[in-house]
Amino acid sequence: MDRDEARRKLEFYRDLGIRELHVRSLPAPPETVTEFEGAEAPAPAVKAVSAETPVPAVLSMTPDDDSLPRILDDMGNCTRCKLHRGRTNLVFGVGNPQAKLVFVGEGPGADEDAQGIPFVGRAGQLLTQMIEGTAAKEGIQVQRPDVYICNVVKCRPPENRAPEPDEMQTCGQFLFRQLMTIQPRAICALGSTAAKALLGTKDGVMKLRGRWHKWRDVPLMVTYHPSYLLRAYNVQAKREAWEDLKKVLHYVYD
Ligand code: URA
Repeated sequence: MDRDEARRKLEFYRDLGIRELHVRSLPAPPETVTEFEGAEAPAPAVKAVSAETPVPAVLSMTPDDDSLPRILDDMGNCTRCKLHRGRTNLVFGVGNPQAKLVFVGEGPGADEDAQGIPFVGRAGQLLTQMIEGTAAKEGIQVQRPDVYICNVVKCRPPENRAPEPDEMQTCGQFLFRQLMTIQPRAICALGSTAAKALLGTKDGVMKLRGRWHKWRDVPLMVTYHPSYLLRAYNVQAKREAWEDLKKVLHYVYD
């Protein structure tokens, strides 16, 4: 990456509200910006930089002392993408900040937008049932408040459309910081938007589900989005989602 490109990237991060950037001194190809590619990053040798620092090889926008309150504070009254225009509440995330398991959905719907809490509508109730029902059946002591739940985008897309690439990229930086901060044992990506944001893949859920992938070093399972499962004809998909969840819960809590 040349100086101009590096400067543009630094300015982009600054616009996201990131107060500090860090350079990872890696033997990585100079064009690699791992945050955008879902690639695995080797252990970082970290050094703070400013917009004046020349040509970093790999950028991470996660400060060492990051925290969920700090990320929320950095988001502020976010207007970084067009989704803010239709927002009632920014829907940041809910649950245990030290959760061993994080569920990532697509983006808030109407109920979530109204309450500022992810997965509280019909799909959310199903998700709660899936987590608690599967855990109980498997003899695992886990309730919804024990996990952390958030979305790729934090503002409701109009008419519940899928988030667009620029919206996912802008908001995805905050999702990545949430995940880096929580450091869960595993991530469960609900649906194709979450899979796309975290794995950088174009493959659909049917192809990805049921087996382990990785986001950085964290094992990641893709499964169906609960909204998809609410459709009456998805009996087979429901069965598969329960199987996926069983795998995740046993991996994390056994
Ligand atoms: N669907 C999502 O992807 N996220 C929510 O928070 C609610 C519904």
